[in-house]
Amino acid sequence: MGWSTVLSPAKLNLFLEVTKRRDDGFHDLDTVMIKTTLCDRIGFRVRNDDRICMAVRHWEGEGQAIPVGPSNQVWRAVDLLRNKTGRLFGLDIVLDKRIPSRAGLGGGSSNAASTLLFLNRLLELELPSSELMALANQLGSDQAFFFARTAARCEGRGDRVTPLPTLPRLWFLIVMPPAGLDTGSVFRDLPVSTTPKSSQELCHDWRSLDARGVARHLFNRLEATSLARSPAMRPVLKALRLSRAAGAQMSGSGSACFGVYATHSQASRDRSLFRSRMPHCRTYLAAAAALLPHRALRTSPVLQES
Ligand code: C5P
Repeated sequence: MGWSTVLSPAKLNLFLEVTKRRDDGFHDLDTVMIKTTLCDRIGFRVRNDDRICMAVRHWEGEGQAIPVGPSNQVWRAVDLLRNKTGRLFGLDIVLDKRIPSRAGLGGGSSNAASTLLFLNRLLELELPSSELMALANQLGSDQAFFFARTAARCEGRGDRVTPLPTLPRLWFLIVMPPAGLDTGSVFRDLPVSTTPKSSQELCHDWRSLDARGVARHLFNRLEATSLARSPAMRPVLKALRLSRAAGAQMSGSGSACFGVYATHSQASRDRSLFRSRMPHCRTYLAAAAALLPHRALRTSPVLQES
């Protein structure tokens, strides 16, 4: 069998409220997320033995923060599938990493969910999606979202998912400051609001929203706490808010920030400005994803083991 590749998309949080601190150390959320066309690629090739061999290829100066071994989310997802099914399949894995880590873009969670969904089909494991979801929830809070098609409201720890339909074309300029942030420590520092906001209005208006409409609803409760930990985000957010974007915000627990645009050309022109004025930041142009990436089964001549 040759190489098969799956796309693993980054998410953006358009709305994120923390509604409660829970007894298990996690927080209850009310968040609306959307998948984007900024994707990692994960290539798999079945081996003749039961070994797992993994390589990671970094794009655009992404540091060495991604583990290449049993603690990698892709590897962990493979382990869960092998334990659950009792099938000790061996795999060569090449992870082509574009999504920055410690960014609030859900890269690791997306990698794990894409791996679970894709290998279930590729290797005909025939696990129902409820069982795949249960495996995914062992790996983190964002995983369940990546089982939705393109967008969703997520509540509870993040695992109660209400899918939303695809939005008509929306463009994003994602700007990543040099240093990332640790999700756990942002949540630890967070003062929990006594009067939480709800994403209900955003979800109600969802189908009719264009870039300006989305911008009106942008909200992220974690932003102030993350800004205190990462002052480098402040000029990024300020510049995005003064740009052609209809609105701008931090994603997840940061440190990536994004602007929302109605057209590709506006986002692209602002990207050029950021590249010249803030060369220390990485920038990514992405659209709202319009398809289910984990169905993108194809053999890939692109991936080479490095
Ligand atoms: O689940 P995940 O590994 O993404 O979470 C990382 C950390 O973020 C958790 O250990 C927890 O401290 C915090 N978190 C939280 N409430 C959530 C999600 C994450 O407190 N709903």
